[in-house]
Amino acid sequence: MKVDGRPMRTIWVEPDGWSVGIIDQTALPHRLTTARLATLDEAAHAIRAMLIRGAPLIGATAAYGVCLALRQDTSDDALDRAYAVLIATRPTAINLKWALDEMMAAVRNRPRAERAAAAYRRAAEICEEDVAINTAIGRNGLPLIEAIAARKKPGERVNVLTHCNAGWLAAVDVGTATAPIYLAHDSGISIHVFADETRPRNQGASLTAWELGKHGVPHTVIADNTGGHLMQHGLVDLVIVGTDRVTANGDVCNKIGTYLKALAARDNNVPFYVALPSPTIDFSVADGVAEIPIEERSADEVASMSGRTADGRIETVRIVPDGSAVANYGFDVTPARLVSGLITDRGVIAASPAGLAGAFPERAGKAE
Ligand code: MRU
Repeated sequence: MKVDGRPMRTIWVEPDGWSVGIIDQTALPHRLTTARLATLDEAAHAIRAMLIRGAPLIGATAAYGVCLALRQDTSDDALDRAYAVLIATRPTAINLKWALDEMMAAVRNRPRAERAAAAYRRAAEICEEDVAINTAIGRNGLPLIEAIAARKKPGERVNVLTHCNAGWLAAVDVGTATAPIYLAHDSGISIHVFADETRPRNQGASLTAWELGKHGVPHTVIADNTGGHLMQHGLVDLVIVGTDRVTANGDVCNKIGTYLKALAARDNNVPFYVALPSPTIDFSVADGVAEIPIEERSADEVASMSGRTADGRIETVRIVPDGSAVANYGFDVTPARLVSGLITDRGVIAASPAGLAGAFPERAGKAE
């Protein structure tokens, strides 16, 4: 996507031909800064500390983490260590495992002298595939928005609610949940997005709002608990969220708070769609609530908030009394029965075993 008129992605290979550039998302929305990753440990840190985040981008960064490891050591031991270090960074988004397995398949059986080059080739392909998948998600999701727009009176806008950031900052480019939104906006549909702020890390307020603003998409940031109220008053036409893992049954794991939006959407007959790139499907698990590991992060993320002061400094302040216990669950699972449909690169499908296996038979058959 463009930032101030300049095309930009979230991850790239630097002009030196081997080190990896990323947008440091911890500085947004106040500063657009980049970081350079030169080692496996720096790539792992970028994922763990959320300089980059979002399921597809975690996968792409892990892929380049393997490349950086192989630049220093092409042995089997180094490859195993890279896998172990990267897989331990964040537990919930399945794109991480998917990308690491892809990288192992691309390099493992090659002579050591060929491994690094093969790794860089596969990592670049993973990035291009992400963009192509998300572009297809945009095309396939657009008719949902067009159908709502067609029912509107002249001048009325289509209101979409989204949670967290499943935009281009969560992917290599284009984004997942935002792909149909950008396409609708670019094709002249009057569209407006309610962006949940998404405590504790505020990806909606900091990242979704930033990228929608840069693209000129009208949007309003709302406190996390506002969605139900808006839906009761007919102010939300459609919910589109991203996902970090979808099970073979169609259960959807996504940023904490998504489940509550799905419940409110069901109670108010608001369609609830999930934008799903195929690497985010985990056919090896069925029951999302029982089987998906939910990341628990530092209490500090809940107990404090960061922001820009009036004189331009970035400060972090504590908002919870000293001594209060704090819990920080990163994700929740929305049962398939609450999902109106999955917007995939192969079309909009049912959130069900038949829907997923029918659209992705080659993945379902393997059940990794
Ligand atoms: O913890 P994060 O920021 O990596 O969480 C990822 C997300 O932004 C969302 O859960 C998103 O909807 C799925 S990634 C397209």
